[in-house]
Amino acid sequence: MTESKSMALYERAKKILPGGVNSPVRAFDPYPFFVECAQGSKLYDADGKKYTDYCMAYGALLLGHAHPEILTAIKTQLPRGTLYGTPTELEVQFAETLSNVSPCMEMMRLVNTGTEATMHAIRAARGYTNRKKIIKFDGCFHGSHDSVLVKAGSGAATFGVPNSLGVPQETTQNTIVLPYNDIDALENVFKVEGANIAAVIVEPVVANVGLILPQKNYLPSLRKITHQYDSVLIFDEIITGFRLSLGGAQKYFDVKPDLATLGKVLGGGFPLAAFGGKKQIMQNISPAGSVYQAGTFSGNPVSVTAGIAILNHLTKNQNQIYPTLEKHTSELKKALTDQAATYKLPLQVHSIASLYQIFFTPQDITNYTHAKQSDTALFSAYFHELLKQGVFIPPSQYETCFVSTAHTKDDLKFTINAFDKALCVAAKTRNPS
Ligand SMILES: Cc1ncc(COP(=O)(O)O)c(C=O)c1O
Repeated sequence: MTESKSMALYERAKKILPGGVNSPVRAFDPYPFFVECAQGSKLYDADGKKYTDYCMAYGALLLGHAHPEILTAIKTQLPRGTLYGTPTELEVQFAETLSNVSPCMEMMRLVNTGTEATMHAIRAARGYTNRKKIIKFDGCFHGSHDSVLVKAGSGAATFGVPNSLGVPQETTQNTIVLPYNDIDALENVFKVEGANIAAVIVEPVVANVGLILPQKNYLPSLRKITHQYDSVLIFDEIITGFRLSLGGAQKYFDVKPDLATLGKVLGGGFPLAAFGGKKQIMQNISPAGSVYQAGTFSGNPVSVTAGIAILNHLTKNQNQIYPTLEKHTSELKKALTDQAATYKLPLQVHSIASLYQIFFTPQDITNYTHAKQSDTALFSAYFHELLKQGVFIPPSQYETCFVSTAHTKDDLKFTINAFDKALCVAAKTRNPS
């Protein structure tokens, strides 16, 4: 293997950063490429190679890299100050706009990351109900805080640590894990534990073990059962927010949770997240109430300015943006399905709105147990050939691919050509003769 700048940077990085990265999902064999810059649908690495990007910072960049409207907005804000430690009109304007587009967000608090958002949403639910237990679903990922690092997806699934070391069993004993898409299992637990369950937290569409869609009536049933037992239903919309629709999964499926978490797309490429929902729950947050939550960087004016810019852009252009994204994603799905048939590869392709993922298995996939039956060696062969061809997707079977508004018709054509080569390599990996 010839020495590349990325390879040398990875060797250097491994000496100072655990695994050479600042988030595990970024590491892959033999070494990840190191990015120099990005624009639109493209990433450019330290060795001058160009990639058409379907990782899009794990879904955060709905408008692609370095979108001009966001750049213009933050250039106006930067000389006015980057952090104040006091309230701003920007935060109020942003929250009002967000409340208008997000069905459940009567009241909210701004934070920086999805991890913070889900941690505080769970605390708010526990404070409100005065109950301890929560229910999460096998393979759902809600960030890297203690009470949800149980049978978690994303990097925790990829690297085989769904239950992390360092998380006390005393904490996770209050987290009940159930299979996704299984209403009977949920009902049975509620019959026994209903009075102790503060919240059910769910990715309405699971996007952290590949992509798994809710079966018909699943989300309405979650809503019904949580109502029945006065438990708080939390939709973790860190991925689905602004991807399924401007109003997220709650609008797309017409199911209103009590609380929701938003992040990723929300900040237009800057660290910004929010948790919020019913006023009667959110007004218990300090200093209005006794559920404590705080943050030095929360609602910082640069992120919020970028957030206002993206919300305005999406509001203005939603009728054009969402149908186009869905059409482009469907084109990719169709190409993968047709090519898999040509190469006689057993393949499931799941997609919704601007999200898609493939699974190398003949089985239907409705939960994480099914997803684990997918052939990850074939996925790895497919991923590495795509990379060689100049198409970057998240490097793990247990992630999801994201189409952005920056992807052009030419990008799709280029990608479909690369898919063909990658599936051909996967087919040869399966049948080496
Ligand atoms: C559904 C979901 N919730 C929460 C998180 C955590 O968000 P963050 O990485 O911003 O902490 C993620 C991250 O991928 C996610 O996919």
